[in-house]
Amino acid sequence: MDRGFLGTLPLADERDDDSYLDFVEGVRTFTLTKISPVVKERTPSAIAEYEARAGHKASTIEDARAALDPVPVIATRNRFMRSSQEMMWRRIAETYHRREAELLAELDRYDRLGPGTVEWDPTFVYPDYYAKVEFHIQPGNYHADPLAGYIYHYGTKIFYTGRNNQDDVQREWVNLAPVPADGIVRRVMDQACSAGQSTTALKERFPEAEVWGIDIAAPMVRYAHKRAVDMGLDVHFAQRAAEDTKFPDNYFDLVYSRILFHELPPDIAEQVVHETYRILRPGGLFIVIDFANRTPGLTSPADDYFRDFDTHHNGEPYASLFVYSDFTGLLRRAGFRNVIENYTPQMYQPMRVCEK
Ligand SMILES: C[S@@+](CC[C@H](N)C(=O)[O-])C[C@H]1O[C@@H](n2cnc3c(N)ncnc32)[C@H](O)[C@@H]1O
Repeated sequence: MDRGFLGTLPLADERDDDSYLDFVEGVRTFTLTKISPVVKERTPSAIAEYEARAGHKASTIEDARAALDPVPVIATRNRFMRSSQEMMWRRIAETYHRREAELLAELDRYDRLGPGTVEWDPTFVYPDYYAKVEFHIQPGNYHADPLAGYIYHYGTKIFYTGRNNQDDVQREWVNLAPVPADGIVRRVMDQACSAGQSTTALKERFPEAEVWGIDIAAPMVRYAHKRAVDMGLDVHFAQRAAEDTKFPDNYFDLVYSRILFHELPPDIAEQVVHETYRILRPGGLFIVIDFANRTPGLTSPADDYFRDFDTHHNGEPYASLFVYSDFTGLLRRAGFRNVIENYTPQMYQPMRVCEK
């Protein structure tokens, strides 16, 4: 049944689902706040014990796996991270699919409502690099389940352990973004907008601007539009690949991109950077929030092991490739100038800012 909203998030179908999902959120919170610090403390001695046993220095990620996988507290942390993720998606999908007919009719109805617009194409062919993956192990990925937008949005509540019920995370990042030197912000793109949480935050920050949210997945832009309509915000959503946006040259003053690039294979990441350069006007800014890059060989095997967890266990096949790539170099080679690698050093992820 329709039980109303938490912020802009439709509540679960039944209280029973809420309490199950609250338990899952608790498992994740406990893992991050209580188990992970113990893991951090235990890691150096586990590596040293492995080196003594093996008779050589731990120098590769395989060494780190042999050293760390069997340690009970680390195995528990890894199991809890993976299982809480599986439990979360399973129950969220169950709760919304119980209302599937009603929610699909809702999306159909909202497709034609304003303010704002949505465009999507039922014949769109998803590229293999995307369609063959279930990112974050979400069953059906962002695109193959028509209710994926609802499901992903609830997932962000649990992922951020209750700290994102009012799009708090997206709003915080959007409010930190700089504007072009001439102060002109007439057109803004949210690149890979998912449920549109950054897009609506951008519209709130730049109410006079024409704001677009694009995403490759139809269920995401449809849900994002529904959410924006409910919020009374005039935003345009469109199903577009970030590497082929169909916008004219020099169209946008600001392209904002949060946590897309680590989900792209390197060749597509390069195409997206060039396409973004094309659609920005001279002086326009490209703002990218994503993982920091690391230099291969300059990290410890234990760091690599934890960094690689998402690639190994959480459906993020390209995340480690992104982390060990020279993304800043790629931005510069594409023509961007004044590239700042870490515009917001106080934050837990770098914000890269570059100018066309
Ligand atoms: C982690 S989510 C982005 C979160 C969102 N930017 C926010 O701030 O809440 C990644 C999104 O990228 C989209 N995506 C992946 N590859 C894409 C591509 N080539 N073009 C456009 N969107 C893409 C996915 O469909 C997904 O919705």
